[in-house]
Amino acid sequence: MTSFLITHAMTVNEGVSTYHDVYIRGGRIEAIAGNLSAKPADRVIDAGGRTLIPGMIDDQVHFREPGLTHKGNIASESRAAVAGGITSYMEMPNTNPPTTTMDRLAEKYRIAEETSFANYGFYLGGANDNIETIKRLDPKAACGVKVFMGSSTGNMRVDDPAALEQIFTHSPVIVATHCEDDPIIEENTRRFQIIHGEDIPIALHPAIRSEEACYRSTALAVELARQCGTRLHVLHLSTAKELDLFSDGLMDGKQITAEACVHHLLFAGTDYGEKGNLIKCNPAIKTEMDREGLLAALASGKIDVVGTDHAPHTLEEKHQPYLRSPSGLPLVQHALVSLLEHVHNGVLTLPQLVEKTAHAPARRFNVKDRGYLREGYWADLVLVDMEQPTVVDDEKIYYRCGWTPFAGRTFHASVVATMVSGHLAYIDGKLDPDPKGRRLEFDR
Ligand code: DOR
Repeated sequence: MTSFLITHAMTVNEGVSTYHDVYIRGGRIEAIAGNLSAKPADRVIDAGGRTLIPGMIDDQVHFREPGLTHKGNIASESRAAVAGGITSYMEMPNTNPPTTTMDRLAEKYRIAEETSFANYGFYLGGANDNIETIKRLDPKAACGVKVFMGSSTGNMRVDDPAALEQIFTHSPVIVATHCEDDPIIEENTRRFQIIHGEDIPIALHPAIRSEEACYRSTALAVELARQCGTRLHVLHLSTAKELDLFSDGLMDGKQITAEACVHHLLFAGTDYGEKGNLIKCNPAIKTEMDREGLLAALASGKIDVVGTDHAPHTLEEKHQPYLRSPSGLPLVQHALVSLLEHVHNGVLTLPQLVEKTAHAPARRFNVKDRGYLREGYWADLVLVDMEQPTVVDDEKIYYRCGWTPFAGRTFHASVVATMVSGHLAYIDGKLDPDPKGRRLEFDR
């Protein structure tokens, strides 16, 4: 394995920003210090004062393999992730077939071992009828159990209250939920169908998948978790109102945590006019006030983790009429640079961003030896140029679906290089062709 010396880097880690050299050997960070020029390295990378941070650990992606590989697969989407500075991901179970058995989980790990460019973990899916599998789950074998409390791509909703309670009571690992209330959504859909027929305008998506639908379901998840003692992580909060259900402050010690996603932090209802179905997702992108509320909650600590919910669909699928157009958008390739806009705008500090994208997901999911720039930890690193813009239109899009909701945007920062487990996976616009992602280990 190649050894590396990264010199003159502005490292941002654990709340501290300092100039450091970083020496990497055997896949891990061997030393971090002011001057390591004496270290014998196969390759020296002069960071030239640019920013070096721990790679993003994305706790929510849909990579579509097996069964939906016309939209994306583990190889294609993990390549895009690496080009965007995501070094590890946790992948969702709404594939085809859904990941609701141990055999299917093992099959995903097998595929990823051969093809993943980033480090990987997989969720076991909760279902109405797999409580025995969940009870027997080895806590090291999955990053978490995912429960769709509202239906979305793949119809994996757990709609049996007894099954839900069993999962919340017996899951040996963190339970991550998608919270939306289906009866409210169905009622709203019927109401708008009476007026618009099948041609409901996309701008009504947040009125259908409404604030109330999110709040009701999130409140139920939080209440159940309190009753059952569940380690609960509520995914992709999309409304300011739901934030009332979470507590501020440090994540450690919390039983119940929350995640927000890059698109809910960047887009708002006013963007439906230009982007249409391309930004149709579940839960829906809501109002500008909601977006601002979510951003403020990052700083206050009500939102602990930022992920992507990367969910590719083909353009042909997306361009169907509202009711048939699938929800979800591809995000991993520009997730980090889009989040850095909030730093540029002074809404978030760089150490806060690193906490939400790397440190916090590592701690929340008990990821072993990753998520920090620490001696002895795996070298999952991203070199960022805060002054070099990313013009999305000029870039190669690595997603199999071939499009991005960020077309037409210029972000202020760019990803210069990404190192995955000590392997230089991406530098200066070029991806290494060897998939060298490793399986995430969970210290639990
Ligand atoms: O918009 C979404 N798309 N939300 C989800 O919960 C699922 C995802 C997908 O898999 O397409």
